Amino acid sequence: MTTTIPGEPWSTGVARDGAGVASVAGVPVADLAAQHGTPAYVLDEGDLRGRASAYRRAFETAFAEIGAGVDVYYAGKAFLSLAVARWVHDEGLRVDTASGGELAIALRAGVPGAHIGLHGNNKSDDEIVTALDAGVGRIIVDSLVEIERVADLAGARGVVAPVMVRVTTGVHAGGHEYISTAHEDQKFGLSIAPTPAASEQVVAAAATSSDAGGDSPAMRGLLAVLARPELHLLGIHSHIGSQILDPSGFEVAARAVLELRAALAERTGVLVDEVDLGGGYGIAYLPGEVALDPDRIAKDVAASVAASAADVGTPLPRFSIEPGRAIVGPAGLTLYTVGTVKPVRIDDGRTRTYVSVDGGMSDNIRPALYGAAYHAEIVGRLSDAEPVLARVVGKHCESGDIVVHEVQLPGDVRAGDLLAVAATGAYGRSMASNYNQVPRPPVVAVRDGGSRVLIRRETIADLLALDEG
Ligand code: LLP
Repeated sequence: MTTTIPGEPWSTGVARDGAGVASVAGVPVADLAAQHGTPAYVLDEGDLRGRASAYRRAFETAFAEIGAGVDVYYAGKAFLSLAVARWVHDEGLRVDTASGGELAIALRAGVPGAHIGLHGNNKSDDEIVTALDAGVGRIIVDSLVEIERVADLAGARGVVAPVMVRVTTGVHAGGHEYISTAHEDQKFGLSIAPTPAASEQVVAAAATSSDAGGDSPAMRGLLAVLARPELHLLGIHSHIGSQILDPSGFEVAARAVLELRAALAERTGVLVDEVDLGGGYGIAYLPGEVALDPDRIAKDVAASVAASAADVGTPLPRFSIEPGRAIVGPAGLTLYTVGTVKPVRIDDGRTRTYVSVDGGMSDNIRPALYGAAYHAEIVGRLSDAEPVLARVVGKHCESGDIVVHEVQLPGDVRAGDLLAVAATGAYGRSMASNYNQVPRPPVVAVRDGGSRVLIRRETIADLLALDEG
């Protein structure tokens, strides 16, 4: 692991000047720190927009070649704010939301309801009603119970709800069990395997008038949707996991979904219009890691679905994908100030230098939650001191409060140094907490030599304002 600026895992706008001071889109990090304080999430707008349009163009081009349409939905769970919703919408993306809060931000940003999808394995009635009233383009239903709930709520409002049924294909992909969502023993979707849990059988029997014995939960879900006139069955949805670097999982899952689509058509005569392949496109977190290339993955997936549809003997549906991390992850970095430096002797006789920064697990829970690896560098100056084995830690009262597990930093790292962690744009601010009553950092956008605050820094007054005493 070495100094790699410029290049991945840093956003395209990160550079170092002759004196070694890093800048983002032309703004020196010292100016960002002086203007906005640290810690701060810094978002490179040009980089984010470039990734959004690269994904859209790559998929549109590759799918046009096989004669299929495709929509790219930005998965707002990775990070959503009014500005980011507008940027991705400007770049021709739609927005995938997974809660009433995300939905509200997308709508407030001016994204048309028809270009928004609503996900969630336990949507509240309020969330469903908000989505129906906003005319969202799709509600992705996740259980047999929810199918009835959405139908009832749509019926009560006199509308027909466009729904996709989320299915699990048994394909397990991605970096960590908790972020892999299509294996069987987890909460999402309806399995395509014909071995339903007993509780689902009971609900399915109540939900469908036909004898659904032996069918998979996924098939039961599709039949249950078709049985309700208040629902329009738009298609089938499959998301297999996150931070996926091997494209084969997408292809296997897509084939399974196309087979299910064909089986439904054979059974009912209904050939659904759309298949959503979810998100999960992996990025580089460390120097030397290689992100999935949008052109490559789009071509591979398009070729594979074309072959699968031909084998299955059905015309191609319209497709959609839902990248989140791949759009916003590399566009973000977190800027911290070093507070204390402490050499600690470790078991093998080596010394590890603990470098404490002014944030920690409250602004990036991923190292503690998933063991996620990150890359950090001192960005306010260049040093020719020998590198030392360092661990970047936060200021929280917990020894697992690790920001970067292992990284080489210059041996003269000291209090006051600015330290940046790369590729924190996704699931950083969006999973941030107030642990130890630490206010959450601002999100600062940088573009063309200027910066502006997208989300302001929380204050102690914000924290106290919620406390009713
Ligand atoms: N679509 C659906 C239905 C999803 O569940 C997800 C992520 C995405 C799209 C976007 O996945 P992406 O392209 O961002 O990988 N907190 C974890 C990631 C959880 C992802 C959950 N679902 C992390 O920090 O790695």
